[in-house]
Amino acid sequence: MKEMLLKAFQFRHACKVFDETKVVSDDDLRFILEAGRLSPSSFGLEQWRFIVTRSAVIKEKLRAACLNQAQLTTCSVVVCIVAKVQELTPGSDYVSARFKQKNYPPEIHKWLEQFYEFYYKQIDVLPWSIMQCHIAAANMMTAAAFIGVDSCPIGGFDPKLTREVLQIDGKNADIALIIPLGYRKNPQPPIVRLSFEEVVQYI
Ligand SMILES: Cc1cc2nc3c(=O)[nH]c(=O)nc-3n(C[C@H](O)[C@H](O)[C@H](O)COP(=O)(O)O)c2cc1C
Repeated sequence: MKEMLLKAFQFRHACKVFDETKVVSDDDLRFILEAGRLSPSSFGLEQWRFIVTRSAVIKEKLRAACLNQAQLTTCSVVVCIVAKVQELTPGSDYVSARFKQKNYPPEIHKWLEQFYEFYYKQIDVLPWSIMQCHIAAANMMTAAAFIGVDSCPIGGFDPKLTREVLQIDGKNADIALIIPLGYRKNPQPPIVRLSFEEVVQYI
């Protein structure tokens, strides 16, 4: 089991060019999206929304909005992760529904609402929302790698152009990350990372 997961982490890399002849099946795409959907999130607010496209026309537009990166048009499918903003306002129908889903006893529910209101005042909501989206992104990329599907997280995009393509206003919601999925065209480069000792400190 451990080896299988480790193999997936070693398989995953930021794939720069996909094989345009290969298609990610609907079943595999569903599996990957499920990994995103089931991800943990601060306050359980599921700050994400996933816009999925296989459209060649939209992929072309996304490529232009993403600094002309070839991943966007060579991939099989693109998952755009949208970070919610407006819905996260304390007391909103969205927040209430998420808290209700948890089925907490009334006193805990009330405390949670109050604590969320307090917490919300301390944070910058968009970066906080994007942080949660990145957790879903990581899970989707790992799930993809687990079944042999390649990915590349794309943070290099022009926000204004990308919002136009995805019809996101940047106020009620904004783009967190874009993930093209497909199958690598070229061999994977060696993995370069700091050593275990450099990043892990036991105290
Ligand atoms: C938030 C984020 C944004 C990124 N944006 C891009 C991007 O726009 N284009 C790209 O080719 N790689 C992008 N990457 C991939 C990183 O460059 C890559 O993960 C890193 O260099 C390590 O290489 P590896 O993933 O192949 O091991 C991004 C990664 C993250 C986490």
